[in-house]
Amino acid sequence: MEFKASESRYSNIPYRRCGKSGLKLPSISLGLWQNFSDFDLFDNCRLLLREAFDNGITHFDLANNYGPPHGSAEETFGRVLQKDFRPYRDEMIISTKAGYDMWPGPYGDFGSKKYLVASLDQSLKRMGLEYVDIFYHHRPDPETPLEETMLALDLIVRQGKALYVGISNYSAEQSETAIQILKELKTPFIIHQAKYSMFERWVENRLLDVLENHGAGCIAFSPLAQGMLTDKYLNGIPDGSRASREHTSLNPNQVSSANIEKARKLNEIALSRGQSLAQMAIAWLLKDSRITSVLIGASKVSQLQNSIETLNKLDFAFEELQRIEEILK
Ligand SMILES: NC(=O)c1ccc[n+]([C@@H]2O[C@H](COP(=O)([O-])OP(=O)(O)OC[C@H]3O[C@@H](n4cnc5c(N)ncnc54)[C@H](OP(=O)(O)O)[C@@H]3O)[C@@H](O)[C@H]2O)c1
Repeated sequence: MEFKASESRYSNIPYRRCGKSGLKLPSISLGLWQNFSDFDLFDNCRLLLREAFDNGITHFDLANNYGPPHGSAEETFGRVLQKDFRPYRDEMIISTKAGYDMWPGPYGDFGSKKYLVASLDQSLKRMGLEYVDIFYHHRPDPETPLEETMLALDLIVRQGKALYVGISNYSAEQSETAIQILKELKTPFIIHQAKYSMFERWVENRLLDVLENHGAGCIAFSPLAQGMLTDKYLNGIPDGSRASREHTSLNPNQVSSANIEKARKLNEIALSRGQSLAQMAIAWLLKDSRITSVLIGASKVSQLQNSIETLNKLDFAFEELQRIEEILK
């Protein structure tokens, strides 16, 4: 059926400025790492994307290797774009990345100019786009000179294939050096995509300060620790969950008793706040204004709706934060 976006789509989600750039992102964004592959039902993928956009989620995050197989999430997104989203392209921020293993041989991995330029051309074809809004280098490359990788990002912007660039999974020190190079080149670097959740707090150490000092934003990925910061695993691994399925990224061993014990205690606090654990985990990240957006995943429309409802209660009492710290110690 023809898609007509909800008239009220901009009434719900606050938009946050990405560092000191001109770009604003929705405080919740949707990632297509999982649940949009050739193994997932296309109709469900389409519903998820429509529901997100109808609720003001304007930012969709992809990467060349999202699937499986590699590239299939971009193809799925391209199909939905073609069927539903064409009239809305200018209302969307679409990002993709290159940096992980993508194709055989020496030119399909890490951070050479050869890989980044070729990969983005492939991504654009798969999605049926002329440009992406943000192009990321997905992970640091220990061998390629950083100047080469950053010059490739710069070239891509000057070719008109991306409007802005970002980096992902770079340490605070690596980010500092990369940003210096991009500043000299006057490349529109605006964002770092980093793993950040109640269970994974490395960014608090120095990265957020570095980004703030340079006027860059931060988008927090896997905010629900792939589902462990929801009530899903409190009583074991349910059928159909990410940890139970093949071709996914969550190993059942990662659903450790230590993590689940913490999740149980956190869940009690969430319930006393009148929230789901997922909602509290998202709100906990958004309390820091340096976090531009929280980049969630979802396998069902009901999960997406639950996560969006986080926005009804973002504030924390001081005692709640203290109790959370005690549990996370
Ligand atoms: N830059 C990088 O290196 C990198 C790496 C990883 C991810 N990312 C980005 O971050 C995005 C999000 O990552 P993620 O999928 O790991 O995020 P996540 O939000 O931590 O986990 C999403 C999963 O949690 C469960 N879930 C979501 N909402 C729920 C709710 N309200 N109630 C109960 N369960 C809920 C679902 O699991 P079930 O499937 O079990 O239902 C869903 O697939 C990715 O799509 C990608 O764009 C980037």
